[in-house]
Amino acid sequence: MKVIVITGASSGIGLSTAQFLSAKGHRVYGISRSKIHEKNVMSIQADVTDYASLESAYKEIFEVEGQIDILINNAGMGISGSIEDTSSEDANYLFNVNFMGVFNSTKAILPYMRKSGGGKILNISSVAAKLSIPFQAFYSSSKAAINSFSEALANEVAPFKIQVCAIMPGDIKTGFTKNRKKNETDSPEYKGRVDKSVAVMENDERNGMDPESAARVINRLVRKRRIPLYRTVGFKYKAIVFLSKILPAKLANNIVGSIYAFKKTK
Ligand SMILES: NC(=O)c1ccc[n+]([C@@H]2O[C@H](COP(=O)([O-])OP(=O)(O)OC[C@H]3O[C@@H](n4cnc5c(N)ncnc54)[C@H](OP(=O)(O)O)[C@@H]3O)[C@@H](O)[C@H]2O)c1
Repeated sequence: MKVIVITGASSGIGLSTAQFLSAKGHRVYGISRSKIHEKNVMSIQADVTDYASLESAYKEIFEVEGQIDILINNAGMGISGSIEDTSSEDANYLFNVNFMGVFNSTKAILPYMRKSGGGKILNISSVAAKLSIPFQAFYSSSKAAINSFSEALANEVAPFKIQVCAIMPGDIKTGFTKNRKKNETDSPEYKGRVDKSVAVMENDERNGMDPESAARVINRLVRKRRIPLYRTVGFKYKAIVFLSKILPAKLANNIVGSIYAFKKTK
């Protein structure tokens, strides 16, 4: 039995993982702004952009349980639209949730994980970290930042027997699609291309994998003695990540562009 904390456990991948891991007999705490109504998941309402709220949540969990073994940094959201049309507020907010949220949560939990004698930090990144998606530049960048953060963190905390993995799911059917914030105004120079690109993304997500496929991968990482630094979720996406490593960067980026960028302006 492990004591597991999952951020963003009220919906999608986080909720499915919380259900899966609690059914395996683990003590699961879910962190989100809204309350989680699951019998075996302890709900703590907190915003990952607020360091103090996470600090007090993790202190409370450690006082009750005497240990914290696993942190799953999963809370996240998306924005879409051209870079030129994105407001600084939206770009900052996305980075605040997706990247600073991972930092806040990690920083707040580390003292307790070290006192527990070790543990695992699983950061939910995305395949978009490896292949940056046009009109989702800030989302892709925030996930690339999570990968970079995870690499540095893994080396910093290895002496404390804390292992780190950046998990990169492909498209998954969740609330993410409807929660994506679209740019308020798309200028005429971009609008048609943004609409088509977002339609492709939304279609891929709605026809994507079940959130349980991510939960199963996470369960295997929870059980394993030694975990990898990266784990991609979905066979098709593993092949895509592999191709992105062996193809010249410009060719790989052009292929992504041919799917999502609609280079003709009409
Ligand atoms: N769906 C996909 O295709 C896909 C693919 C690759 C990676 N991912 C990543 O997977 C993670 C989970 O996304 P999902 O697809 O399961 O989406 P989702 O169904 O929209 O769930 C997002 C979760 O994050 C929480 N959250 C959002 N902002 C928060 C904040 N400021 N503080 C605390 N919690 C917050 C939400 O809870 P509240 O609203 O209650 O706070 C919710 O529980 C994200 O990091 C996403 O980028 C998703």
